[in-house]
Amino acid sequence: MANRFDLSGRRVLITGAGRGLGSAFVAGALAAGAEVAALDIDAAALAALKQRLPAVHTAVVDVSDRHAFLAAAAAFGRLDCVINNAMLIRYDVIEAVDDAIIDRMLAIGIKGSIWGAQALLAQRDAHRPAAILNLASPTGERGFAGTAVYSAVKAAIGSLTRTLAAELGPRGIRVNALAPASIPTPGATAITPREEYERRSVRFPLRRIGHEDDATSAALFLLSDAASFISGEILHVDGGFSASA
Ligand SMILES: NC(=O)c1ccc[n+]([C@@H]2O[C@H](COP(=O)([O-])OP(=O)(O)OC[C@H]3O[C@@H](n4cnc5c(N)ncnc54)[C@H](O)[C@@H]3O)[C@@H](O)[C@H]2O)c1
Repeated sequence: MANRFDLSGRRVLITGAGRGLGSAFVAGALAAGAEVAALDIDAAALAALKQRLPAVHTAVVDVSDRHAFLAAAAAFGRLDCVINNAMLIRYDVIEAVDDAIIDRMLAIGIKGSIWGAQALLAQRDAHRPAAILNLASPTGERGFAGTAVYSAVKAAIGSLTRTLAAELGPRGIRVNALAPASIPTPGATAITPREEYERRSVRFPLRRIGHEDDATSAALFLLSDAASFISGEILHVDGGFSASA
């Protein structure tokens, strides 16, 4: 049996790819044989990524900007997979939430994921299987004090994932989401220090924090033919946290 996890010949666009989980997805997809386009709003992060992984195509794009997103996807060419990973991780107590925070987080999380789906539709070859992977979170599924906007966006991404799985499945497009937890990326540790993640991890069934590789292997699985009958799923990469909380 052929290696169904192989991504040779697949063309994958990944947003928020300059650092954290996004850059790990880029490295993993390249290692699995894919051609990869990395989009990020942070030009310096993309330049560092390109230096580390010269095979990657990069484009400085704010994912909330539909025109810029679709233009970058068109410049890359045919697409088989999109990972809608970009997000601004920020937590505010409810009194501190204002219009600007809501507008920005909805624009990155919701608009960005919808523009990602549109980019795939515009650039795919209808004769080839295709896949979209969104980034949800356990915060979108239960109550975590002080995270209202972030959690609402992540809950909406869960809904978007199921809706698009229903809508696009007949066209041969699978749509799934990852729900990671406690992976100390730059964005996550800007809010919660790594030591705090380590401290909390004793309550996780697997008794450790997550690593970027944990999310990457799950992401590559969901993009690959090994997951060819899986759509509309939210795969938790959280050390058993959601199952036990
Ligand atoms: N780290 C975790 O434990 C965890 C848990 C649950 C969900 N997630 C989700 O995983 C994804 C990646 O998170 P991370 O931890 O790697 O975060 P991160 O902050 O380290 O990386 C996010 C990347 O997105 C980019 N970005 C932000 N706004 C953008 C925009 N408008 N356009 C383009 N790029 C933009 C940033 O520049 C950055 O490179 C996010 O969707 C996050 O919500 C992470």
